[in-house]
Amino acid sequence: MTDIKDQMMAALSTVIEPELHKDIVSLNMVRDLQVEGGTAKFTIVLTTPACPLKSVFVERCNEAVIGKVPGVDKIDINWDSQVPTDHRFQGRQNVPMRCVIAVGSGKGGVGKSTVSINIAIALAETGARVGLIDADILNPNIPQMAGLGAGRPKVVNNKMQPIEAHGIKIISTGFLTEPDKPMIMRGPMLQSAIRQFFVDVEWGELDYMIVDLPPGTGDAPLSLAQLFPLTGAVIVTQPQSVAVSDAIRSAAMFDQLNVPVLGIVENMSGDFFGEGGGEKLAKQRDLPFLGRVPLDSVVREGGDYGRPVVAVAPESVSGQGLISIAKNVAARASVVMLQNSDVIPLNVIG
Ligand SMILES: Nc1ncnc2c1ncn2[C@@H]1O[C@H](COP(=O)(O)OP(=O)(O)O)[C@@H](O)[C@H]1O
Ligand SMILES: [Mg+2]
Repeated sequence: MTDIKDQMMAALSTVIEPELHKDIVSLNMVRDLQVEGGTAKFTIVLTTPACPLKSVFVERCNEAVIGKVPGVDKIDINWDSQVPTDHRFQGRQNVPMRCVIAVGSGKGGVGKSTVSINIAIALAETGARVGLIDADILNPNIPQMAGLGAGRPKVVNNKMQPIEAHGIKIISTGFLTEPDKPMIMRGPMLQSAIRQFFVDVEWGELDYMIVDLPPGTGDAPLSLAQLFPLTGAVIVTQPQSVAVSDAIRSAAMFDQLNVPVLGIVENMSGDFFGEGGGEKLAKQRDLPFLGRVPLDSVVREGGDYGRPVVAVAPESVSGQGLISIAKNVAARASVVMLQNSDVIPLNVIG
């Protein structure tokens, strides 16, 4: 007779991780297995605390175990998570962040900053450690959206301290300049500003760094991709066709920069702009569709008055849309990071 724990592990090795398409035992996701009085207790270590698929795991584990492993009639799963990283950071820049996600679009005003701040907050609410860089250096609007007024970040030991709001750490040129005074900077200065936001800020260890890009295919995404191995990019578009063709340009740019496109977000869906442009684009380009956010005055007011919808109205349709988008982004990022690896690389951050 084999040990009941061995039988349990054998049964669980038939459970396939829905995104990574490998079994959860060889992915090293099953820990601390104990069987007591007919109940098998174990921990599943997910690749993100924002995992949208917990119920799928529960269902698949039950199917694999109950009625198949004699002596076990109940399972009790404990959840833990560890965001992987794909080693590309190591030896490049000394920044302890596991996953860097840029949010871009071909044109301005489509909702990049809105999506960036809300997905950052949604990820933080799942327990992840999250930073947000406002890389729209000349037109920073993250401080206003976060409800942060004037006030410069403190400098301690030559490092800037990010400002915390809604559970996330934020840095923006908006904190460093006088309101109403335009920033004037040329290409090299922009690049150096973006670099400083990564390396001269005391971020601590982060699971996700979200980077809100300026519109278009200009200097900022290029500098960023040259400086850092981005995990991936999220493209925001509006449903109408003009915006969609800009989004296509944006996707082509990330392809050229070798940054995987994690997927497309359709923002401001609804009567006025129609619906479906983003989803159609995703299908055409064979990219994941990450979700849609309706045109909603709560979202606009949230941005204007520093009350992000995910923080103040998480139950609203827009709040739910953004929370679901955040989970899909995290899931896609896990897939990208683990694509070329057999086993989840744990504890790899030094
Ligand atoms: N889903 C939405 N519904 C209503 N207003 C929105 C929505 N998304 C963004 N907005 C508003 O549209 C404007 C532009 O959004 P913003 O996020 O600043 O775009 P970008 O960063 O792409 O320039 C802001 O005033 C914002 O509050
Ligand atoms: Mg913006």
